[in-house]
Order: sequence, then C-alpha cells, then structure tokens
Amino acid sequence: MEKLLIEGGKPLKGDVRISGAKNAVLPILAATLLAEGPMRVANVPHLQDVTTTMELLGRMGVSLTIDEHMNIEIDTSTIEEFFAHYEVVKTMRASILVLGPLLARFGKAEVSLPGGCAIGSRPVNLHLRGLEAMGADIEVKGGYIHASCDRLKGAHLVMDNVTVTGTENLMMAASLAEGTSVIENAAREPEVTDLANCLIAMGANIEGAGTDTITVHGVKELKGCQYSVLADRIETGTFLVAAAITGGHIKLKDTQPQILESVLQKLDRAGASITSGHDWIEIDMHNRRPKSINLRTAPYPAFPTDMQAQFTALNAVAEGSCTITESVFENRFMHVQEMQRMGANIKVEGNTAIVTGVEQLKAAPVMATDLRASASLILAGLVAEGQTVVDRIYHIDRGYECIEEKLVQLGANIRRVPH
Ligand code: UD1
Repeated sequence: MEKLLIEGGKPLKGDVRISGAKNAVLPILAATLLAEGPMRVANVPHLQDVTTTMELLGRMGVSLTIDEHMNIEIDTSTIEEFFAHYEVVKTMRASILVLGPLLARFGKAEVSLPGGCAIGSRPVNLHLRGLEAMGADIEVKGGYIHASCDRLKGAHLVMDNVTVTGTENLMMAASLAEGTSVIENAAREPEVTDLANCLIAMGANIEGAGTDTITVHGVKELKGCQYSVLADRIETGTFLVAAAITGGHIKLKDTQPQILESVLQKLDRAGASITSGHDWIEIDMHNRRPKSINLRTAPYPAFPTDMQAQFTALNAVAEGSCTITESVFENRFMHVQEMQRMGANIKVEGNTAIVTGVEQLKAAPVMATDLRASASLILAGLVAEGQTVVDRIYHIDRGYECIEEKLVQLGANIRRVPH
C-alpha cells in the first residue's frame, strides 16, 4: 500500500492552480443520465471518485470518452441497465446520486444502499422519502434500493435535515417530473448551485438554488450541453491552511474567494493576511505562528465540516486553546488520535474537541481514516519535526488531484513511496 513521506518545517511559497470541485463534478456526472443528447463536462479533476463514477456509468452501458485535458463526453443513448452495484457504491457513497436521474428519466433504478462510513452512519432516508413523495415505489431489500415509477410528479418537500446529496438527488428528479416541486430546507452549498446551473444549461427550469427553498418546474426533456465544473473550495481551503500552518505565502489561482467566506474569516482571525481577486486568493502568514480559533461546523454558508480536520491540525500548533464543535457528522474526529501520536494536545468530549496548541509537533507514523482526515495529517506532517509517514493514502486520491505534486511545487518536502 502506498504511503506519503513528509519532512516538515518548510514554509510554503509560490503559486498553485485549484482543480474542479469533487462535490460538484460527481452530481454533474450523475445528471448526464437525464440528458437526451451527448454532454461534455470540462474542468474535471483527476480523482479516484471521478474514475469510480465513470465506472458506475460505464457498467450501465453509458458511453464515456475522456481527452488528455480531462474533458469527459458522455452519451447515455447506449444505456442498457439501471443498476448501481454494491461493489462500486461501497467505495463511493455519492453513487446514490444516480438514483434520482435514473428514476426520473427511465422509471426504474436498482441502487445498492451505501451503508455507513468512517465518519458516521450517513443514512439516505431523506432521498428515498422525497422520491416517494414524488410518486416512486421504493422497496429496500437485500441491501438494494429497488425503485420504479411512471412519470414522477412534482411535490412539496420539506427536508428534516439539510442534506447536500439529498437536495441534489431530488432536484435532478424534479427536473423531469410532471409539475412543480418545492424543496424546503434545501442545502445551499455552492456545489448544489453548480449542479442547478448545469441542469438549467440542459434546459431545466429551476429557481432559488443557493437559497433554502428551491423551486423546480419539471420539463419533458433535457438536452446535452457543455458545462465547466466549479472550483474546489475544500481543496482551496486545504492549501490555504497548508500555507498558514507552515508560516508560508502562496497564491491560489482558478478558485473563487466568494464561496469560502467562513474559511477566510477564520484564517484572518488566525493571523493570516489575505488578499483576493475575482478568481484568486493570496495568503501570507509572515512566518508567524497561527493563533487559536474556535469553530463550529454547520451547513453552508457556515464553516464546512469538510474543513474541520484541517483546522484541527492548524489549531494543534497554534498559540492558545480553542474548541472545535462538529455538528454535521457524528464521528468525525478520527484524525485526533493520529495527531495525538504526533504530540498534539487535543481532548474530545462528545462532538467537541478541545485543542491546546503545542509549539512543535513531532513526526510519527500515522494512518489516514477518511478523505479529509488524510489531508489534515499531511498538513500536520508539513510542520512536524522529522519525517512523518502517512499510511492508507488511497483516501486522499479520492478527493485531491495530485496533492503531493502541488505541494512539491510550493516547496514542500513530500514524496509517495510504494510500501
Ligand atoms: C456531502 C458531501 C460531503 C460533505 C457533506 C456535508 C458530496 C458528494 N459529499 O455529503 O463531502 O461532508 O455533504 O457537507 O457532496 N442525513 C440524513 N438522512 C439523509 C441524508 C443525510 O439524516 O437521507 C444526515 C447525515 O447523516 C448528516 C447530515 O444529514 O448528518 C448531512 O449529510 P449530507 O449533507 O447528506 O452529506 P452528503 O450529501 O452525503
């Protein structure tokens, strides 16, 4: 199994390009199932989760071609089956995103239940309840969701919880339903808006994406189009923390500062100087130690749960103490035990971590448990004294394009080894 070796202590310097967003490209690839004509998706990040989604669609008979710039052309006219196998779904929970499109366009779908994962139980009950309210017959047996319908009907959906992929699944389904659907307590994440923009480019009639009430007037048919994926705000945030934790000075290009406000505010409070333009952000930490910052995760526009682990690493070396409260997922402090092995002073009480910054982390062998936890361990390694070895890095390849190449370009001492 591959590992990353990191020699800590170098302040990052230079420019880095941000890739397309994982959490936007996955629903957009699922949405191609709704299109009558071929779709072309650009700014696709080179990620394991994208490969998995292509496999998922390819197994259904969908034709996919990819060029050297990672533009993907998708033609669903060759689709033969409406089935998402457990073998694929278990490696990527976002596979559930094919359920809404398959039902809305083809009237049937058989999708494996995703099951739990390292960060919590992560049910899909709200996806299923919404589709049932739109007229789908759903039965869960043998670990699979068996769903069928005549044409879906518009419905008034009030979501019990803010769910990102739940909102996306229902918005996609509603796009081809008969009549109007209203999704209340919808997720407001920028990736939901990006999906809505893609659906609108395909001919959908959607209002209110980016607010907590999304109205979808169903249309009879959606067509293929060309769409370029939004920048990845979590990759952006991860590189910003990489600069902040090492006392560095970097410029991030092809990103969008306006979708990262909560993260930028926290970095400002940690002592970073931040400047930004339309599609770039520059951060300068002036070789200073960061200051501790309290944070609480919650749905967008509040502080993202997908940045919690990285800020835990930042606080682990900051001046002062703070509390970090995780309110989205029940079990998202797996990185804490690994950071403790590097000398971090962190106590977890329920869904809150109390972090007292130490002056110096010490390198240790550590194990990645999920995608963002792996990122946080790399960040800790960038400032630790000695050589940190991060094991189980297949998690990182699910969601970060060429992370070590990008870090090396910024002056980090990091390399991948086979064993
Ligand atoms: C998405 C993101 C993930 C991010 C998360 C929260 C993608 C591909 N993944 O995951 O990176 O960490 O949003 O921002 O976009 N819930 C239910 N019932 C449901 C669905 C969700 O109770 O049917 C609960 C979950 O257990 C969780 C909360 O709602 O506590 C939010 O989860 P959700 O927004 O659905 O996460 P994902 O869409 O899976």
